[in-house]
Amino acid sequence: MVFSCVLRFLIFILTIKFSASLICYQCDDIWVTTTNLKLPTNCVRMNVNKTYCAMTIVFNNNINGYVQITSENGHQAYHYDEDFVLLGLTMRSDGSFTYGLTYHCLADGCNEPSLKKIQLLFDSTTIEHNIKTILRLLYIRTPERPLPCSKYTNCTDPNTCYQPKEINVVCSRCFTTINGITNAICAHCLENVKPIFDILDDERAYLLKAKTTKNHHYEVYCNMPECNRLDKIQQIQKLHRYDFDYDRFMGKSISSLLLSNKNIIYFHLFILCIWNIL
Ligand SMILES: *[C@@H]1O[C@H](CO)[C@@H](O)[C@H](O)[C@H]1NC(C)=O
Ligand SMILES: *[C@@H]1O[C@H](CO)[C@@H](O)[C@H](O)[C@H]1NC(C)=O
Repeated sequence: MVFSCVLRFLIFILTIKFSASLICYQCDDIWVTTTNLKLPTNCVRMNVNKTYCAMTIVFNNNINGYVQITSENGHQAYHYDEDFVLLGLTMRSDGSFTYGLTYHCLADGCNEPSLKKIQLLFDSTTIEHNIKTILRLLYIRTPERPLPCSKYTNCTDPNTCYQPKEINVVCSRCFTTINGITNAICAHCLENVKPIFDILDDERAYLLKAKTTKNHHYEVYCNMPECNRLDKIQQIQKLHRYDFDYDRFMGKSISSLLLSNKNIIYFHLFILCIWNIL
């Protein structure tokens, strides 16, 4: 009796662990404005073959955008093995910008549609774009040619930054990228004379348990002399400021996280088992 019960319990746990499934909500996207966030509709709770349940808000130029409730696999390579919010900002040479916030969570049902949670995600984030100041440092309509660009890499394999055959290119735009996994920096240039549209892409991850911030991805394309030099990049990184208020966002969600955790199911089953034995 005791044995069969323990055995059944173990088998149950193993099935859950190895089915590698996650239960997430999935809804239709909904169009929103910054002053009027809305709850997505037609939501279903389903088993997904994904790593994270997700809740996303995206805005164009601080005016309108959309809310999305879904699940995803991206970012596994970064080994964020805890809930995190990914914040991304893209600036373009015409002065427009897009930014997005995605709450990623690992427990069953953790992206349950809630207007309060969506509002909280939005309210916990502060972004100072300073796009006009940044544009002046990175972009000019009629650039010098050839353009002087900074060339630097600390990638362990230099080929991942640029190929040896690209060493003598006539630069017409400079770039710097920072890899969020290795933190390796790659600064070089491109010969491409097509106009630049996206000039800056900055993504940061806010790890909710550790309450730490990670550079997730950073990329600048610019056409002012030496605009991709590391000290200039650091100056620009200070100009657009992000803040994520961990306590504000987490304060209200801890109980719901605990309740939706799979561990609770194990615990209940275990109690049931013991109950039967006694
Ligand atoms: C789940 O996804 C993995 C990789 O993405 C794939 O290999 C596997 O076949 C999928 N399983 C199911 C049940 O869809
Ligand atoms: C490259 O340089 C940056 C900044 O100096 C540093 O944080 C990073 O760890 C370095 N990466 C490698 C792979 O050496």
